[in-house]
Amino acid sequence: MIIYTAPFDPITDDELQQLKNYHKETGKQIALAVVGDGILNYDKRKELCMRACNPYHYLHVVDIKQDDTCIALQSETESEVRKGYFYLSAKGIHKILLENGYYFEEVTKAQCNPKRAAHSVRVAHTAFKLAKIHHLDEQLAYQMGLLHDVTKKMCDEEGYQLLSHFRPEVLKLDPAIWHSYTAVIWLKQNLCCYNKKILQAIQHHTLGDGNSAYDHILYIADKIEPGRQYDVTMHTKIAERNLKQGAEYVLADAKKYILEKEGKHV
Ligand SMILES: [Fe+2]
Ligand SMILES: [Fe+2]
Repeated sequence: MIIYTAPFDPITDDELQQLKNYHKETGKQIALAVVGDGILNYDKRKELCMRACNPYHYLHVVDIKQDDTCIALQSETESEVRKGYFYLSAKGIHKILLENGYYFEEVTKAQCNPKRAAHSVRVAHTAFKLAKIHHLDEQLAYQMGLLHDVTKKMCDEEGYQLLSHFRPEVLKLDPAIWHSYTAVIWLKQNLCCYNKKILQAIQHHTLGDGNSAYDHILYIADKIEPGRQYDVTMHTKIAERNLKQGAEYVLADAKKYILEKEGKHV
């Protein structure tokens, strides 16, 4: 049996389509195997392949043995998935990618400049810690931290186009706020992420106008991450005791800062 190989990091819709076509052309059973290094380890990539191939009785995921004949599959789409275009991944694996936060670090690095990506990682760690203290889902908090500024480098013109179509009422806000709304649209369209807790926290992360515990966590973490150049001792102390009060304190402090900077009330 011929075995089609690729890193399958992760398996994509395009690769699955190629394998289905080989079966159509030959009528034969098709085997595929994970080869090479990847962001995900071998077992995880193999598990994703098995999930993607599960509906097709003629597709088999195998381990390569010494004498096997192999043909390398050619595809450009694996690297695109790792940049955050999860819609290109094989059907049936979106949910696993999202639930486990697979490739989220790579998505952040691909979509943000290095400084912003480093900030996002620090926000993720800070959000994780706050979630742990308050007995909430640490992984979820970590993921929203990583993704919260995903559209920060989008230019105003592109942001304007996107918001005019999906959220025209947001255009009246300062363009500096837009990225919290464009991120939600981007994450739905590209990452296929519809997790309400994540999307809601990201949408509220600039104005601090959210009400849920995760909204508070992300808003606070964004402002107190260790890269910030001001004393966050009090912010942290209050947030570790009570998230709502922590968010209120951070918001009041942010307003004070803007007031001092611009010499006017906000
Ligand atoms: Fe932001
Ligand atoms: Fe941020």
